[in-house]
Amino acid sequence: MCGIFGIVTEKEQRLGPILVEAARRLTYRGYDSVGAATLSGGRIDLRKDVGRVDEVAEKHRLAEMTGQRGITQLRWATFGEPSQVNAQPHLDSDGDLVGAHNGNVVNNVELRQEFMAEGMTVRSHNDGESCVHAVERYIDRGHDFIEAIRRAYGDLQGDYAYVIGRIHDDKLYAIKKGSGLVIGIGEGFTCVSSDLPSILPLTRTIVRVQDGEIITLWADRVELRSVVDGRLIERQPEAVTETMEAVQKGGYPHFMLKEIHEQPQAAREVLHMLAGSSEVETVLERMRTARQVYFIGCGTSYHACLAGAVYFAQLAGRAAIPVLAPQFIPQYLPAVGPQDVGLFVSQSGETKDVLNALQAAGDRGMACYGLANVIGSTLTKATASWLPLCCGYEISVPATKTFTNQVMAFLILAMRLGGRDVKALEAIPELMERTLEETARQVEAIVPWLNAWNDLYCLGYGATYPMALEGALKLKEITYAHCEGMLSTEFKHGPLSAVTKGYPVLFAAGPEDVPLIVSGINEVTCRGGRAIAIGPEDARLRANASDMITIPQASAMASSLLTVLPLQLLSYHLSVARGYDPDFPRNLSKTLTVD
Ligand code: AGP
Repeated sequence: MCGIFGIVTEKEQRLGPILVEAARRLTYRGYDSVGAATLSGGRIDLRKDVGRVDEVAEKHRLAEMTGQRGITQLRWATFGEPSQVNAQPHLDSDGDLVGAHNGNVVNNVELRQEFMAEGMTVRSHNDGESCVHAVERYIDRGHDFIEAIRRAYGDLQGDYAYVIGRIHDDKLYAIKKGSGLVIGIGEGFTCVSSDLPSILPLTRTIVRVQDGEIITLWADRVELRSVVDGRLIERQPEAVTETMEAVQKGGYPHFMLKEIHEQPQAAREVLHMLAGSSEVETVLERMRTARQVYFIGCGTSYHACLAGAVYFAQLAGRAAIPVLAPQFIPQYLPAVGPQDVGLFVSQSGETKDVLNALQAAGDRGMACYGLANVIGSTLTKATASWLPLCCGYEISVPATKTFTNQVMAFLILAMRLGGRDVKALEAIPELMERTLEETARQVEAIVPWLNAWNDLYCLGYGATYPMALEGALKLKEITYAHCEGMLSTEFKHGPLSAVTKGYPVLFAAGPEDVPLIVSGINEVTCRGGRAIAIGPEDARLRANASDMITIPQASAMASSLLTVLPLQLLSYHLSVARGYDPDFPRNLSKTLTVD
């Protein structure tokens, strides 16, 4: 997810440090490239590159940049590979306009062709450049800046926000359509940004921009106009009183809850990114002819591997072996070679256990690919090719949105491998929204009595088995209770002896596995235990379980994924009820770089 920031001041000054700090404060959104442009005295200074903010800032001496206006952008690649030319901001054909965007211009490919046919200089594949040319097109036809932005709005399809400036001018202009944009008003300057963290160190007086609004920024005032008819919009500035930490949590009490609620949007992003990706085709091509396919990860990422193996078998008829990374070495390494493919899955891309397995597999010639969230991590550099999880930063130690996007990625891979239409997955983000909304109360209702227990099980079968393991991991990670995840049918082979009066057992139920789950439920309830079923509304589950948490009706594959959401909410609320900080559980670290 990209981030933009622009600032207008009264006179030329050193803007570099402000731009670098603004960029740093947008890094939580995830990015692969960094750029900055300053404008003043008939000159545009543009510097950009692939890399982290501090690396690019040092390499291109961003802190030394001066100007009366400045723009910075963090790019997270969608159109065009991460490269210096695709990094933002971008110039127009003759270099007197400069701009940067956040979002996706979905007709970028068609627009680039039009611009080139009209004789414009198109330097990159990036859709941010298309925003600049879309404005250039109408300025060159004699329209003023606001009118050019209004007309460009008709040409640029998708959700985006951009900021743009012209060489002989003292203003910046911006527009919002679907992506976040906030204005800051300070002493002797105004600024605009994708999000508040880059504005609040400068000023606490802000104006929230709405979709379809064009902003003109002078050093001492701002003006908002409707893109539809150009009329002026009156909006009073407001004062932000929350702490920076509260702002970063987006109004949620903890990062974990914020990240749980970011899952539907993150799922949309990964679908957009991987549904038609040629990178995915490269990985699948290799898997089609492979002797054996391994999915390798640790903790939550391993649970996603387990789900991936179920989806590969069911949707593509392809067997795959999910394996915990450290166990890959003794159990499979002596048997693997160049005919085999490994997909190494890791949120951080830095987990030592995963990197050890990757190194060993690579040494034996295995084709190694990655699925990671952190761009530029060791895993992304050490694999032949890697697929992004598109989640932005996940700050909370318990993984939530990265898990569901790992599962989404596996669903996309399995669908594509099986020659199925990935459009069927487009319903999932909205189903996730409904699940979070509809299960919140149901989950909170069981917290008070469940809180009395320090020992419980979480069971599932088939595609819900990995969700049960993941739910159990979340519960033990942040509530410090002992919660074991297990295949529901295994429970009778020993753990059933733990059941006493009221003993809690959670069941994640897929629509196709209800009869089996009902058997498991009865084995618990007939011994006085309390069985909580999580699944779509079903008379058999309702009649047999002690408690029921209902998720929306969905296909079997989507339904399995949905069952993990109430389990995440349950662990969160139990953790808070116990007075713990779910974001930073004791003894744990987000990135485990040790053996
Ligand atoms: C998940 O909530 C945990 N924080 C943990 O199990 C984590 O998934 C594991 O350490 C692997 O991390 P990775 O995905 O960054 O490799």
